[in-house]
Amino acid sequence: DSTLAELAQRHGRYFGSATDNPELTDGAYTALLGREFDQITPGNGMKWYATEPQQGVFDWSAGDEIVDLARANHQKVRGHTLVWHSQLPDWLTGRDWTADELRAVLKKHIQAEVRHYRGKVFAWDVVNEAFNEDGTYRETVFYNTLGPGYIADALRWAHEADPRVKLYLNDYNIEAVGPKSDAYYRLAKDLRAQGVPLHGIGLQTHLALQYGYPTTLEDNLRRFARLGLDTALTEVDVRMELPADETKLATQADWYRQLTEDCLAVRRCVGITLWDYTDKYSWIPGFFPGEGAALPWDEQLRPKPAYFAIREALGGR
Ligand code: G3I
Repeated sequence: DSTLAELAQRHGRYFGSATDNPELTDGAYTALLGREFDQITPGNGMKWYATEPQQGVFDWSAGDEIVDLARANHQKVRGHTLVWHSQLPDWLTGRDWTADELRAVLKKHIQAEVRHYRGKVFAWDVVNEAFNEDGTYRETVFYNTLGPGYIADALRWAHEADPRVKLYLNDYNIEAVGPKSDAYYRLAKDLRAQGVPLHGIGLQTHLALQYGYPTTLEDNLRRFARLGLDTALTEVDVRMELPADETKLATQADWYRQLTEDCLAVRRCVGITLWDYTDKYSWIPGFFPGEGAALPWDEQLRPKPAYFAIREALGGR
């Protein structure tokens, strides 16, 4: 039986999963992770708090562990993430910075990390979650101190450190056409017009049954493709209110089928990444109490209807 990765490869796409260092001691889990997927994203190990715990002191151990595992399994790696307002080290959040100071700190962090993982990751989420739901800029320490130009700067610095790696902006709730995805569309168009090195838009795709399927996903992928950009579904899960039942799991399967079809319909949608593949290690229950069962494998690593739906969408049986 072919794996999701093999089925996706027939369409010139990858099929991946996030993973995290603590889970790597679970042998049944890593066996499936190594077998079914051809792409991996570290869930936490490449974030700023993990990689630069003290200013100027870099720790690549968590990210390296995942890169080594991926290499052993012939999987490619998406780097996640260089600039994000969340999971920052205390030394950065604990004081005020002048614009000149923060610009230097940001450039040094980006370039050290991109250089370290040069040739080892094929893409970077350079800036993560830069916009609010209404399409205004999120007021992070970077925006507030440096203004909106920090995004173009971050892309240029990353490109300088590895001219070959694909550079993405990544966010949630931008699957449908709407104010937030419009903000990305306008920014991407602007950046491209200015010659800023931007290669793709990552749509996290954290969906929830209670909010409905983003029916404009395919159109949305298409408009970014028309700007000359790749897209990817980077952190897919489909959560529901617990307990799960047969009806909800069937709807969930249908959504996984649809999002796979939507990506396959647009040539520049380059791949799909689950935000981990099993409910055993999903972030959802810890973050949205009372919700969960969001992934295609259950807590016992048994495939759910969603898994079979993805296979079908990929043309497998
Ligand atoms: O490291 C501490 C550990 O020392 C402590 O014992 C433990 C107890 O709770 O917490 C650990 O920190 C946790 C961290 O993950 C590392 O495991 C945090 O509590 C927890 O909040 C954090 O959650 C991560 C979350 O980002 C933070 O926002 C998730 O694992 C990670 O999957 C999630 O990923 C994000 C993407 O980066 C961006 N898009 C949204 C997505 C889901 O939130």
